[in-house]
Amino acid sequence: MLADDILRLKRERNAVILAHNYQPGEVQKVADLRGDSLELSRAAAREEAEVLVFCGVDFMAETAAILSPDKRVVMAAAGAGCPMAHMITAQQLREFKAQNPGAAVVCYVNSSAEVKAESDICCTSANGVEVVASLSEETVLFVPDRNLGRYVARFTDKRIITWDGYCYVHDRYTPEDVRRACALHPEAEVLVHPECRPEVIDLADGVYSTSGMARRAKESPAREFIIGTEVGMNYRLKEDNPGKEFYPLSERAVCVDMKKTSLATVRAALETTEPRVVVPQRIADRARVAIERMLAI
Ligand code: 13P
Ligand code: SF4
Repeated sequence: MLADDILRLKRERNAVILAHNYQPGEVQKVADLRGDSLELSRAAAREEAEVLVFCGVDFMAETAAILSPDKRVVMAAAGAGCPMAHMITAQQLREFKAQNPGAAVVCYVNSSAEVKAESDICCTSANGVEVVASLSEETVLFVPDRNLGRYVARFTDKRIITWDGYCYVHDRYTPEDVRRACALHPEAEVLVHPECRPEVIDLADGVYSTSGMARRAKESPAREFIIGTEVGMNYRLKEDNPGKEFYPLSERAVCVDMKKTSLATVRAALETTEPRVVVPQRIADRARVAIERMLAI
């Protein structure tokens, strides 16, 4: 049995399995910890195990490798990347900074290590507002997600200049999707991710990171929810709240890269402890400053 092999190999390798909330249910089941990007970064920083097996996409494993350079960080699925993270390069960011001297650079963790190394501070979908509020600069360059940048801009008087990146899963939702789902489920609370477009966010009852949604679904008196994020999230929500109903805002909201991990790839990653994620020290040392500034908030 694959799940038994995984348990045995985990003990033999002194490994822990970290899984993002969008991972397939079978992967979430064998994970030691599942969470949003912020929780996974925190876990990577404090974990004692020798091997961290990362079930998610490349920027998450890179963040873990930057925070824990002495541990072996292994991707559970080779080649799983976040397309949005690759919508800005370090060279493009250097040019953006040169065009806007004196501005602070806030970089969403969905970005490459090279881009983090060029940034002042990172943020996740859970703490963008607090991160921007912590800065003394009046102008902020926000990369790469235009939608998260615009969402954060609602809560500050600072001038936020956003890069034009986006997540194809969330940017695809339309106000019509929300209206259609609400007509089908008029009692449901609508929870969306801040990577959605502003016109979709305007129609939602709440805007949360993935783990923020998990908390809200537990605390809310509502019995039904429309979930505006990647469909994998519904597995966790249903498991945590057996008496409540969760409807995806759209069945099309699938992140192809998040689905590259399976029990078979987790097992192979534990067996070989490959592919190892290594960030060159020169880049890691600079990127770590931006990540640790965020974690200190
Ligand atoms: P969270 O940090 O909210 O889990 O989001 C990560 C992500 O990739 C959203 O698409
Ligand atoms: Fe990237 Fe979007 Fe997939 Fe999240 S859901 S990993 S932002 S492509």
